[in-house]
Amino acid sequence: MRAQVKGSPEKSKEIVPGGVWNDVDGNYINAHGGGVLSYGGKYYWFGEHRPDKKFSTQVGVTCYSSTDLCNWKYEGVSLSVSDKAGSDIEKGCIMERPKVIYNAKTKKFVMWFHLELKGKGYEAARAGIAVSDTPVGPYRFIRSGRVNPGIYPQDMTAEEKATVWDEEEYKEWWTPKWREAVNKGLFVKRDLQSGQMSRDMGLFVDDDGKAYHIYSSEENLTMQIAELTDDYMGHSGKYIRVAPGGHNEAPTMLKRNGMYWMITSGCTGWAPNEARMFSAPSIWGPWTQHPHPFVGKGAEKTFGGQSTFILSLPGDKYIFMADIWKPDSLMYSGYIWLPIDFDKSGKPVIVWKDNWKLSF
Ligand code: GAL
Repeated sequence: MRAQVKGSPEKSKEIVPGGVWNDVDGNYINAHGGGVLSYGGKYYWFGEHRPDKKFSTQVGVTCYSSTDLCNWKYEGVSLSVSDKAGSDIEKGCIMERPKVIYNAKTKKFVMWFHLELKGKGYEAARAGIAVSDTPVGPYRFIRSGRVNPGIYPQDMTAEEKATVWDEEEYKEWWTPKWREAVNKGLFVKRDLQSGQMSRDMGLFVDDDGKAYHIYSSEENLTMQIAELTDDYMGHSGKYIRVAPGGHNEAPTMLKRNGMYWMITSGCTGWAPNEARMFSAPSIWGPWTQHPHPFVGKGAEKTFGGQSTFILSLPGDKYIFMADIWKPDSLMYSGYIWLPIDFDKSGKPVIVWKDNWKLSF
């Protein structure tokens, strides 16, 4: 992948993690917090178009295509913000972490993303859905909302469901009493009727075609995993909480030899932090936490980045993808893509490389 040099004409054969990247026309790739869809022998990279200054969404979700994962052609805006005042996706809203999956039954491409309403900061905490008949789009915005209103997570005990929390008593955050209440579902209950909050998110499609929405919920304190309906257009009502009170963001997932692995970040906004890793023999858990998988200079801060997606490729190959956020000019945030190795016990290991070639 060509770094910084604008307009360099030769074809790129390697990936250079860390910097900004160019597309084949020599323009910066503006597709942050993104993910890659593999369809019909091509890869489609969807991401957040970020402005040079400030951070609200002025354009929408962009798409780039490639046949070799190194040379990317700009395909345009797949989901555009709306000019209509009051639209959920009105220009000036915040669209983050878009992911696209293909539904073989409906033959539709389904995009999910984190949506914040214009002028409301990060208060709305919604998931947005858009759909298209072609991978590139344009995608048609369907709706946005919180997750599974009126439904309890599967793993909440009868006692937890029955508990009535006096919110006045838990106004002060981070006290031991508050932590215990969070773990027992303080915010699940608070948001039960409106639905669960959904901020940083990813999607995962299992071998059996079932898809899952993985999202930072409960004020970013707890990750939740929710099953999607068969058409991927909504939630089925089945969901669990992962690492209650663990403060995880930026979820990514892979499945290998029957084991699910999830890599997330901590919650420090645009600043890098120590990543987390979890595994489970079933998507429904139990989820076990492990040390982060990174090796090399800066490993303890995810090499300066924050996870966004894991691309699973044929032949037992996986690419870990992250963003190096530049809050002063998000447009110029850099990209980290690294191959994932596995140790003898099957644990993911991600070693820093200044550059590397796709041998697959
Ligand atoms: C990060 C999050 C990003 C974005 C940012 C806003 O923690 O991962 O997706 O929401 O905060 O400050």
